[in-house]
Amino acid sequence: MTTPVRIGMIGYGFMGRAHTNGYKRCPDFFPELEHQPVLKAACARSKDKIQAFADQWGYESIETDWRNLIARDDIDAVDICVPNNLHKEIAIAAAEAGKMILCEKPLAMSAEDGEEMCQVIEKTGVQNTVWYNYRRVPAVTLAKEIIESGALGRIFHYRANFLQDWTISEELPQGGEALWRLDADAAGSGVTGDLLAHCIDTAIWLNGTVADVTAMTETFIKERVHQATGEKTKVTIDDACSFLCHFSNGSLGLFESTRYARGHKALYTFEINGSEMSLRWDLHDLHRLEVFDHKDEGALRGWKSVHVTDHSGVHPYMDKWWVPGLQVGYEHSFVHHVADFMKSLDEKTPCAPTFRDALETQKVCDAVLASAKDHTWHKV
Ligand SMILES: NC(=O)c1ccc[n+]([C@@H]2O[C@H](COP(=O)([O-])OP(=O)(O)OC[C@H]3O[C@@H](n4cnc5c(N)ncnc54)[C@H](O)[C@@H]3O)[C@@H](O)[C@H]2O)c1
Repeated sequence: MTTPVRIGMIGYGFMGRAHTNGYKRCPDFFPELEHQPVLKAACARSKDKIQAFADQWGYESIETDWRNLIARDDIDAVDICVPNNLHKEIAIAAAEAGKMILCEKPLAMSAEDGEEMCQVIEKTGVQNTVWYNYRRVPAVTLAKEIIESGALGRIFHYRANFLQDWTISEELPQGGEALWRLDADAAGSGVTGDLLAHCIDTAIWLNGTVADVTAMTETFIKERVHQATGEKTKVTIDDACSFLCHFSNGSLGLFESTRYARGHKALYTFEINGSEMSLRWDLHDLHRLEVFDHKDEGALRGWKSVHVTDHSGVHPYMDKWWVPGLQVGYEHSFVHHVADFMKSLDEKTPCAPTFRDALETQKVCDAVLASAKDHTWHKV
C-alpha cells in the first residue's frame, strides 16, 4: 500500500520538466517507499500551454492561477518552478494553506525575504525542501561521504567554477519568457543567484559555513532591449562574479561564475584540498569523482578517476539503476531528490536542503553582492 503525495506543479519550463520526470521515475526505481508522487495538477498562466504540458507529461488536471492550485483540497505538495521573484509569495501562501513545498533555487530574492519564508514555513510545520539537486549526483554524494569520514584531513582550499557563454551577444534581449534571468526584477541577481548559488550550496554542504567574503562583479553589456517594452534599458544583473572567502573551518575559498566564458555551456567544477586527500568533480563528467590520496605510495601515486557506478551499495544511489559500469545523468539528480523527499515523509525527518539550509546560501549571495558594491570584506 502506498500513500499518494498529490503534486501541484507550478511552471512547465526547464525545471517543470526535470521535476516531473523525477516524479514519474520515483515509483519505478524506488518502489520500496511508502509515499509516492501522483501528478495531480499543473499550473501556468497560458491555458493552452499548460494543457499541452499536462497532456504530454500525464497531469490529471490544470490551473491557470497558482492561487487556485493552492486552494485545492486534492493537492498535498506544491512544486515551485517559476522565476525567482515569485518564490516567496507562492511559498508563503502554500505553507499557510498547509501544503508541503518543494521550491526551486535560489530560495528567494534576498536573505531578508528568505528569512520571512523560513519563519512562515517553520511556524506552519510543513515539509519543505529546496532543489539544490547537485547534492544528489552520486559522485557528489560520494564526495560528501568521503569528506565526512575525515579522510581528507585538515581542509585548506575549496574552489568552484560555474561557466557559461550564452549571453555574449549584445542582441540578446532581457526580461520576459525564457530571458527573465537577465532581468534583475525577476531574477534578483545574475550569475550570483543563478549559478554561484549552486556552487555555494554544494560548498557549504561539503565544507561547512562561509564566514566572510570579498567579491567583484561585472556587467559587460550595459543596455539591452527589454522584451516587455521593446525599449533599451539598463542591465542590472551581474554578468560575471568572482569571490574569495574564508570558511568557518579556516579553509580558503575561491569561486568564479560568468556567462561570458566562450566555449563553456555549463562547466560546474569543484575541488577540495585536504592535508591527506584531494577531490575534484566536473559536471561535464558527472559520474566521475577524481581522487588524490596521499597514502598511495610509489611510482603509481597520482590522481585517479573513480567511475561512480558500483552497484554493491558503496556508491550512493547506484544500486537503484543499471549494472556496474553503466552511468546515470543529470536528470537522475532530480529523481534522487524526489525519492529522498518521499523517504523523508516515510521517516518523518526533514529533507535537506530545507528552506533554512538554503537560507545560508542566500546569505552568502547577499554578502557577495554587497561586497562587490562597496569593495570591502563582508561577514556572512
Ligand atoms: N536546480 C537547478 O539546477 C535549476 C535549473 C534551472 C532553473 N532553476 C530554477 O527554477 C526556476 C524556474 O526556472 P526554469 O529554468 O524552469 O524557467 P523557465 O523559464 O524554463 O520556466 C518558467 C516557468 O514559469 C512559468 N511562470 C512564470 N510566471 C508564472 C506565473 N505567474 N504563474 C504560473 N507560472 C508562471 C512560465 O510559464 C514557465 O513555465 C527558477 O527559480 C530557476 O532559478 C533551477
